[in-house]
Amino acid sequence: MIQEKVLEFKKLEDEIKSCKKCELWKTKRNYVIGEGDYDAKLMFIGEAPGREEDLQGRPFVGSAGKLLTELIEKVIGLKREKVYIANVLKCRPPNNRDPNPDEIKACTPYLIKQIELIEPSFIVCLGRHSARFIFELFGLKFPSLTRVKGKIFKVITSHGKSIHVMATYHPAAVLYRPLLKDEYVKDFEKIAEYVKEKKKEKTLLDFT
Ligand code: URA
Ligand code: SF4
Repeated sequence: MIQEKVLEFKKLEDEIKSCKKCELWKTKRNYVIGEGDYDAKLMFIGEAPGREEDLQGRPFVGSAGKLLTELIEKVIGLKREKVYIANVLKCRPPNNRDPNPDEIKACTPYLIKQIELIEPSFIVCLGRHSARFIFELFGLKFPSLTRVKGKIFKVITSHGKSIHVMATYHPAAVLYRPLLKDEYVKDFEKIAEYVKEKKKEKTLLDFT
């Protein structure tokens, strides 16, 4: 990894750790910046930290995180540390309420910077809020999560790089409605298929 990227990440992380751009910093315990490989090809984007994440300062470490980690490792076959996991909001909304538009507007420049630095080739949006933000960011229509769910879209970034984007359920939604699990696993199998195809190409080492 190039040193410049590490420094830029450090700068960004320091900036987030003192952020007061919306009211959520007052009620949070810890900022949850995101974690994983700065060179990850696969990036997962959730909504906002929950109770456990807020306590630990790490993304997806509660029960939804356990399901996500299991699917990344067992279905996709990658170690959790080899992907990058972030959220739309870096601070927990009180009682896990939905993020409001002002909070999303204030916080998402950080997420955009994370995407720019990591340069993933595949972004998986977990849940409606993440999907809406990412689809709009890349100029994709977002009629509803149901309409786009499980489909892979290809977009070209302003830097001329191609990125694949897929939206699926938030793992907490699947825990709440276990009947969604089979469909959820199928979406992760599609991601696994993509990773397998990429591994066959010259990017062999990128995903391992
Ligand atoms: N839900 C999210 O959207 N993100 C987390 O980090 C944990 C739960
Ligand atoms: Fe800053 Fe984002 Fe936390 Fe709001 S949610 S205080 S914008 S880091």
